[in-house]
Amino acid sequence: MPTLFVTGANRGLGREIARRYAADGWRVIAACRDPASAGLDCETQALDVADAASVEALAGRLDGTPIDLLWNNAGIYPDKGRTLDDIDYGAWLEAMHVNALAPIRLAWALKGNVAASEGKLMAFTSSQMGSIARESAGAYAYRSSKAALNMAATRLKIDVAPLGIAVCLLHPGWVRTDMGGAEADIDVETSVAGMKRVLDGFEAAESGAFVDYRGDPLAW
Ligand SMILES: NC(=O)c1ccc[n+]([C@@H]2O[C@H](COP(=O)([O-])OP(=O)(O)OC[C@H]3O[C@@H](n4cnc5c(N)ncnc54)[C@H](OP(=O)(O)O)[C@@H]3O)[C@@H](O)[C@H]2O)c1
Repeated sequence: MPTLFVTGANRGLGREIARRYAADGWRVIAACRDPASAGLDCETQALDVADAASVEALAGRLDGTPIDLLWNNAGIYPDKGRTLDDIDYGAWLEAMHVNALAPIRLAWALKGNVAASEGKLMAFTSSQMGSIARESAGAYAYRSSKAALNMAATRLKIDVAPLGIAVCLLHPGWVRTDMGGAEADIDVETSVAGMKRVLDGFEAAESGAFVDYRGDPLAW
């Protein structure tokens, strides 16, 4: 039975990722800040992705556990609807921390677990809003943090290649979650089913790809 480890599993996309893989017979390790109140129907681990000590403790608890798919999904969008007139620079730094630095730190801490598995895959929930090629305004913190994630994860691809690990950057679509809002295009089931299809067919030779939930490539 393959094993999924997913962050931000208590709500939104992460919760549906955990549910979908468990329904498909995977062992699911669902990470979130407060597993006790999450009401998840699978194995859980407490993790604040922005807290180095929390990551270190998690890595210790998971020592010796192969992880076929490590999915860095947790994220924040602190500047939704804000402009440069009311920007919060502290929140921008926090977005860089949670969305860009934290996923790389976690991936590096758990690379041995992924290398010891059969699947050997690391997925990162990025966003088309991290695409520099897109001509749209605002959301400086969120956009730049996801662009930084894209850059860092494509460097990580090079560092984990000798371990046989592949890396995939995913845009989930515009999805109806707390972050996406009620007016978004698609529901979590559609998004996660699509992303799972992409990952199920993902080849090592594609490592470093940036694709949406339909498998369509995105411009950097
Ligand atoms: N929804 C969309 O349209 C959309 C589009 C493109 C990309 N994305 C990306 O998809 C991912 C999931 O988004 P979503 O729509 O599911 O958002 P969401 O409903 O707001 O959920 C965000 C998740 O991230 C977790 N999280 C935030 N900071 C954390 C931390 N420091 N440690 C651990 N967990 C933390 C939250 O946990 P708490 O409950 O503890 O805060 C929550 O589980 C994000 O990376 C987001 O940027 C979403």
